[in-house]
Amino acid sequence: MSLDESLFIPVATPRPKYFGLSPRNILGFRRNMLSVWADKAYRARSLSFKLLNQQYFLCNSPDTVRRVFLDRHDIYDKKSPQMRHALAPLLGDGLFVSDGELWRERRKACSPPFENRYLPGFADIMSGSARTMANDWAMMPEGSCVDVLNEMARLTAQIIGRTVFGDDVSDADAAKVVNGFTVYQHTINQLDYADTFGVPFLRGLYNPFRRKRAAKATAEVHEVIDQIIRRHQQGNKPDQLTLLSVLLDGDSSSSGKGGCPLHAEAARNEAIVMFMAGHETTANALAWAWYLIDGCERSRTKMYAEIDQVLQGRTPTLEDVANLPFTRAVFEETLRLYPPVPLLSRQARDEDEIRGTKIKPGTIMLTLPWLLHRHEKEWDNPDAFYPERFLPGAPRPDKFLYIPFSVGHRVCLGGRFGLTEGILCLATLAQRFRLKLPEDHRVDIECRLTLRPKGGLPMILERRG
Ligand code: HEM
Repeated sequence: MSLDESLFIPVATPRPKYFGLSPRNILGFRRNMLSVWADKAYRARSLSFKLLNQQYFLCNSPDTVRRVFLDRHDIYDKKSPQMRHALAPLLGDGLFVSDGELWRERRKACSPPFENRYLPGFADIMSGSARTMANDWAMMPEGSCVDVLNEMARLTAQIIGRTVFGDDVSDADAAKVVNGFTVYQHTINQLDYADTFGVPFLRGLYNPFRRKRAAKATAEVHEVIDQIIRRHQQGNKPDQLTLLSVLLDGDSSSSGKGGCPLHAEAARNEAIVMFMAGHETTANALAWAWYLIDGCERSRTKMYAEIDQVLQGRTPTLEDVANLPFTRAVFEETLRLYPPVPLLSRQARDEDEIRGTKIKPGTIMLTLPWLLHRHEKEWDNPDAFYPERFLPGAPRPDKFLYIPFSVGHRVCLGGRFGLTEGILCLATLAQRFRLKLPEDHRVDIECRLTLRPKGGLPMILERRG
């Protein structure tokens, strides 16, 4: 790719002159933990440093990522004991919080609903929910301004709610679940990097009132899901297949890949994990995609032309996804520039050696998709929005370099689901609307456990055609 004046360079975080993990800066982590990484971190293959007596190792190249996430994953735990302790009251003993044998069992039990054969049904829910949102927007006066981050969160909550639980949940129960999850999410965001970084003094910053509110929300969410499960067990099953029903009934296929039914409590915990893992991530990515598409006229023209030509006004189905390569490339490039999960951490349980550095047990291994995706030695114009790099025919980035869904054994279970959802929602909404950033709005980045536009993303709705 040649340097081109017309390339759109979207907002990024400021880079301090020096690598700045001082105790003072650590507090800045609470707002945006990406702003402590100096230029050096966008060029280095690895970094080893100590902070408040804790040893850290930054994996910043495909070989170091491969070592930790694949080759020696057996000695790198996903959750530090502190993190597990903090998350367990909210998420139970589920897939997300566990390591070792329990994780292996749950991963096997939770995988069948994400197989290809279930995707067409889920895809219809995705397009249908996006169409309903387009209808809502169409009722608003021309030129209305909406908070796109909020709108995308509303959309993905509806999609994941309908795919996990089905349509037979009453509006009141659905509202209880969504509200409960919102409080959950706030609390989890509060946990942010204090636990990830194993910095004990920061744990005092948790707000006990918020935790109490979260406990109440947890109880409400549990009550609603337990009721749905009881109805299911009494034979009152939804017409369509749901993620929860596959967890409860097991994998009935003859593929023999496993998928034993889960008992009620385990199924409930995993349903919660799926809601949590699949909701905010996709919403943030979609919001960033609208921002990027608005900022780059060339890409916008190409994406809209593709969507109009392929769909001719129809609501897209799963089959259309293969015919929307540019829309897909827009979503993949969005995940490169703004990976919804910008930091992955592991903790060494045993000794290792990486790039000549001895790794001692207890070392926290950091991998930042944010840094890897903008690495100056790996990408052309790393800070530019250039969807064409993901078009068929362009060389595919190394799978240990481009890792929006992580990589290796603990790769995101919903990766295909999330990609399909992103493409179908973009295509359905873009058929009818263009979203424009108000001229006086400056987009900024907020980075807690996920990466999102700070303070939301106001955009003006403009009807097309
Ligand atoms: C654009 C959307 C998404 C992104 C960027 C994303 C990203 C990720 C990442 C980075 C991880 C690994 C975290 C780590 O290793 O520390 C992960 C794990 C996971 N994700 Fe996603 N995710 C997305 C959508 C979804 C959806 C839609 C679902 C489910 C419906 C889902 C379910 C999960 C589950 C269950 C795990 C835990 C897997 C395990 O530990 O074995 N994700 N996701």
